[in-house]
Amino acid sequence: MKPQEIDWEQLSAIIRKHRGEKWGLIPLLQEVQDALGYIPPEAIAPIASALKLYPSEVQGVIEFYAGLSLKPKGKHVFKVCCGTACHVKGGRSILSIMKKELGINEGETSADYRYSLETVACLGACFLAPTMMADKEYIGRLSPRKIESVLSHFTENKDEEPE
Ligand code: FES
Repeated sequence: MKPQEIDWEQLSAIIRKHRGEKWGLIPLLQEVQDALGYIPPEAIAPIASALKLYPSEVQGVIEFYAGLSLKPKGKHVFKVCCGTACHVKGGRSILSIMKKELGINEGETSADYRYSLETVACLGACFLAPTMMADKEYIGRLSPRKIESVLSHFTENKDEEPE
């Protein structure tokens, strides 16, 4: 699934909705992120102009918030926890298995835009360590076997959508 073309009409409608709002930047960015799956860098200038901000301020906010991204992500996003509780329970080996199985490194997206692999400092579910998220779902007490079954779910549904 390739990232969709930028829908400028949709983007302009979101920007218009928040034009001039004093505290509108984060809601606006979140709406663009939800609609397009990322915030196209080309959208920074019109967003800044609508909210009377500098483009660098908009860029800084996007870079600060983990939920916002300037790059298109895969259809499925895996976040492997590398925090202390997960680390002591084998989080690094979970990450190694994920890298090997998906064929990508942390911070990367597969060439077909099906998977993205990320690491996080703590998912806030230390009692489930080692933990990861598959899209919005928490998966804890991971083991190599459990990862295999999680990934098979995603790979079995590989043809669920046309490319
Ligand atoms: S350290 Fe992994 S969930 Fe907290």
